[in-house]
Amino acid sequence: MGGGIAQVAASAGCRVSLHDAVPGATERALQTMTGSLAKLAEKGGADPDEVLARIEMVDDLVPADLMVEAVVEDAAVKEDVFRRADGVLPPAAVLASNTSSIPIGTLAAVTSRPDKVIGMHFFNPVPVLKLVEVIRGRETSDETTALVVAFAEELGKVPAQANDFPGFVSNRILMPFINEAVWALHDGVAEADAIDTIAKLGFAHPMGPLALADLIGLDTCVAIMEVLHDGLGDDKYAPCPLLREHVEAGRLGRKSGHGFYDYSR
Ligand code: 3HC
Repeated sequence: MGGGIAQVAASAGCRVSLHDAVPGATERALQTMTGSLAKLAEKGGADPDEVLARIEMVDDLVPADLMVEAVVEDAAVKEDVFRRADGVLPPAAVLASNTSSIPIGTLAAVTSRPDKVIGMHFFNPVPVLKLVEVIRGRETSDETTALVVAFAEELGKVPAQANDFPGFVSNRILMPFINEAVWALHDGVAEADAIDTIAKLGFAHPMGPLALADLIGLDTCVAIMEVLHDGLGDDKYAPCPLLREHVEAGRLGRKSGHGFYDYSR
């Protein structure tokens, strides 16, 4: 998602520094951005070369006006990024997280600028989906919120504000829906294809919940469900064992070539 966020920011004219600690990740992001920009250019979008020229791949965090963190959905890893960013970015800079579920207050607490820490939650595929869920932590200032709302609009997105609860609004609704679809598969109510067809044709969703889980990443779905389960203290948010089984077997969805569906061919 970091590449998608970099792409939409650069398409809106911003200069972007893209950093990923995982070897090869920025190269993969470049490939994905190149493909996405080509599709958009066919429909009158910006010149891909001009957009990519605004994105610099960097080996570490660098000073900037705004950081949008999009690392793995693990509070300890995110806290480490926020702690380091607080030391590298100028004191006036805003530190935003693309977290799907982790409370913004947890990330703000490791910085010296909790008023400038905020959630800026994009949706996959970032270049296509219009929503940015903007999450105010308890200490996020009005000024920071206004700046991030305006920035989301500058990117051509529609911001919607939520308060700092586990999973916010989007994943509090989406993950139980996905999890229930996994339970339906687990219990033998229907095959995966039938479950997804029912959601697509019965509710006019662009894709079914199992295909969507594969797009999001089954490990990410489990991580989000765990934050909801622990944070809201209700067993209705416990991840279905079949979801865990896939993750434990390394079937993470599209990114590993296999999830509820096979993407290897
Ligand atoms: N970049 C640019 N364009 C893209 C693209 C990308 N990455 N992906 C798709 N497109 C374009 C295609 O070129 C196509 O354009 P066209 O209509 O002009 O030909 C259009 O989008 C539709 O794509 P496809 O024809 O390939 O396929 P679909 O019609 O099935 O659309 C989809 C694909 C956009 C992924 C659609 O199925 C969809 O919106 N699915 C739901 C996605 C969703 O719910 N995302 C939210 C996940 S939750 C999340 O991210 C939050 C996290 O916290 C969990």
